[in-house]
Amino acid sequence: MNTKMILVNDQKNIDEVMQEAGAVIKAGGLVAFPTETVYGLGGDALNEASSEKIYRAKGRPSDNPLIVHISRWEDLLLITREVPPLAKQLSDAFWPGPFTMVLKKSDRVPLTTTGGLDTVAVRMPGHQAALAFIKAAGGFVAAPSANTSGKPSPTLAQHVWEDMNGKIEMILDGGAVGIGVESTILDLTGEVPVILRPGSVTEQMIREVSGKVETDQALSSTDSEEPPKAPGMKYRHYAPKGRMTILSGDSSQVMEEINRRLKADREAGEKTGVIAAEESASRYHADVVKSAGARGDEGAAARQLYRILREFDEDGVTVIYSEAFSSNGIGQAVMNRLLKAAGHHIEYLNEE
Ligand code: TXA
Ligand code: MG
Repeated sequence: MNTKMILVNDQKNIDEVMQEAGAVIKAGGLVAFPTETVYGLGGDALNEASSEKIYRAKGRPSDNPLIVHISRWEDLLLITREVPPLAKQLSDAFWPGPFTMVLKKSDRVPLTTTGGLDTVAVRMPGHQAALAFIKAAGGFVAAPSANTSGKPSPTLAQHVWEDMNGKIEMILDGGAVGIGVESTILDLTGEVPVILRPGSVTEQMIREVSGKVETDQALSSTDSEEPPKAPGMKYRHYAPKGRMTILSGDSSQVMEEINRRLKADREAGEKTGVIAAEESASRYHADVVKSAGARGDEGAAARQLYRILREFDEDGVTVIYSEAFSSNGIGQAVMNRLLKAAGHHIEYLNEE
């Protein structure tokens, strides 16, 4: 298959482009598109065969449900059985935006789209091109992140091209995404809302609307008895090829310890990489050092993390060390993804 890549920023014939992309979806094809979080791999959410194509293109297990993207609030009522008042309040607060709600699904949504579950995850993205595309596609676009399963989510159209060229009909290129980590997922099917995946809409922001909110305990540890409630969170996503370790603690101590290990690794013939704050990046003696932005700027780290992980793979890095980031705001989502990339391998240096 020939994959067509089309720019959507400042495009004069944008309506035509969207009509063309929408027609691909209506005909059962796949189109990758930009959102404010990461690029999505879109298909018709109400068409079983389209969802099957999505799983195949990603190499994703079909028990891992897809998020349904909508462009109008009313459309939520067509694909859900029950919209509790809290869902209305939360969507008033966070839609369009990086926020996904899990609700009971209606019969219109095929089980293939929801990975066999009787619930459906729904999001209205805060991105003009995404909204125009969803409208042109008929209103219901199933879209996981547009990466091959197990790779970091795409934050540039180029990343989508690397993973999906030849497998899908079209890629809409909207440039670099604004946020860089996937949406917050909130399960609203129980008595208390539960965060299944942290994102830039934080626990505190949700609590201000809902009063109560919990976080899925399985997210914070590897040895939890229960599997994570979002099926996708159990897979080892975002994994670079290199062995990765996070070191947390006083920054000069972390730097010293990482440099000590780098020396041994390089002597052992490893190709080494480091993820560091801008302030300390130049002080590491690694083959490849990546700055994730100024210390304390968790938004910058979110925007760059997935690109950095992909670049380590391209560079053939075999051992990676990362400084830990603060868990303020979106920092919680950054640490969640970083921990997954490292297979939860984090060490805490003595903090006196
Ligand atoms: O920011 C995002 O959410 C991006 C963009 C493209 O919108 N999409 C995205 O989709 O991250 P994906 O498929 O890569 O991640 C969806 C996650 C998976 O972990 C999946 O298991 C979970 O959402 N999920 C989907 N439907 C669910 C449901 N009904 N119940 C529980 N978890 C669900
Ligand atoms: Mg994904």
